[in-house]
Amino acid sequence: MDEQRWTEVVAAAIRAPSIHNTQPWRFTASGDRLEVHYDRGRALPVLDRTGRQQVISCGVAVEFAVVALCAAGFEAEVELLPSPADADHLATVRAGAAREVSAEDAASAEAIGRRHTDRAPFLPRAVPDEVVDRLQTTADRLGVWLKPITESEEQVATAFLISRAEEMERSDPEYLAELQSWLRTDPAAVDGVPVVAVPDEDPATRPSNWLIRDFVAGSREPHAFLPAGDPDAPPPAVERPTVVMLGTESDDRTAWLLGGRALGRLLLEATIEGLVASPLTQALDWPATRTRMRTRLSLVGYPQMLLRMGYPSTQGGSHSGRRPVSDVLHFEPAAG
Ligand SMILES: Cc1cc2nc3c(=O)[nH]c(=O)nc-3n(C[C@H](O)[C@H](O)[C@H](O)COP(=O)(O)O)c2cc1C
Repeated sequence: MDEQRWTEVVAAAIRAPSIHNTQPWRFTASGDRLEVHYDRGRALPVLDRTGRQQVISCGVAVEFAVVALCAAGFEAEVELLPSPADADHLATVRAGAAREVSAEDAASAEAIGRRHTDRAPFLPRAVPDEVVDRLQTTADRLGVWLKPITESEEQVATAFLISRAEEMERSDPEYLAELQSWLRTDPAAVDGVPVVAVPDEDPATRPSNWLIRDFVAGSREPHAFLPAGDPDAPPPAVERPTVVMLGTESDDRTAWLLGGRALGRLLLEATIEGLVASPLTQALDWPATRTRMRTRLSLVGYPQMLLRMGYPSTQGGSHSGRRPVSDVLHFEPAAG
């Protein structure tokens, strides 16, 4: 594989979603191998003390690299945590034999450029069960379970724990300072969450049971979120997105990487179906709410990701920045 090819593969990999758009990765290409490393310099010590959500983010980047390689006509082999002495060497992706590019490979690669997190309300149109079933099969194939949160008791418990976690976060100055440091007003920013990608109304006043993360909580006026408008107007339609949970049998770096790979694949399949999604991970940020999620929903294993999915109410949406490939990829001569 030449340098140009690896540059294209890494350009696709870094389109991966990452917690607060921290892009916690570095890549080394050498011959037919691409190493994916965790970049601790971009850690979130308050929100993600164990690095779980950042390793999941790197898992998505691994999967996007696989998709790009397949669409370039190569088999892709992935080894997770290949260096026992270096736990931050998360994966090695090897470009294997030539393969015929299927229509599915091409569509998945194309979806990488279109996917983005959509936090706006979705259209009031349900995601068909057969689509959810297909996503479930995909997750299963990648060693991850997908649980649609459909039972009303489960919905109430999950929505409650999300709002509980959101409330804890809004009153935690360290959390707010860390969040603020990753919020970007410059449209040309290469990392962090652009303010244009987060709805400007207070999520607490939005007619939805599912509270999205409030990225501007730290700068909101205390009274700015009182509902405004005509008190006699009919209440707005309540949002009913499809909410799914992804989880794994264990809770170590291998499990987090598997979770990320499955998340990456699901997001691309959803994009191809015309769906959009946004993660709702507040309740999984904190050990207490994450543990309660396990017990309240009688989960077998560990919840890794909660996603709301639906059909977009606006087209296009907002795309967040990425650091240039040259900042995150370096080349080494192939051994031997
Ligand atoms: C592990 C993980 C957790 C995330 N948690 C949230 C969340 O709680 N709320 C949210 O609005 N976005 C969340 N995101 C989405 C990121 O903010 C988003 O991927 C990033 O800003 C880049 O934007 P993009 O997905 O549009 O490319 C999460 C993403 C990942 C990978």
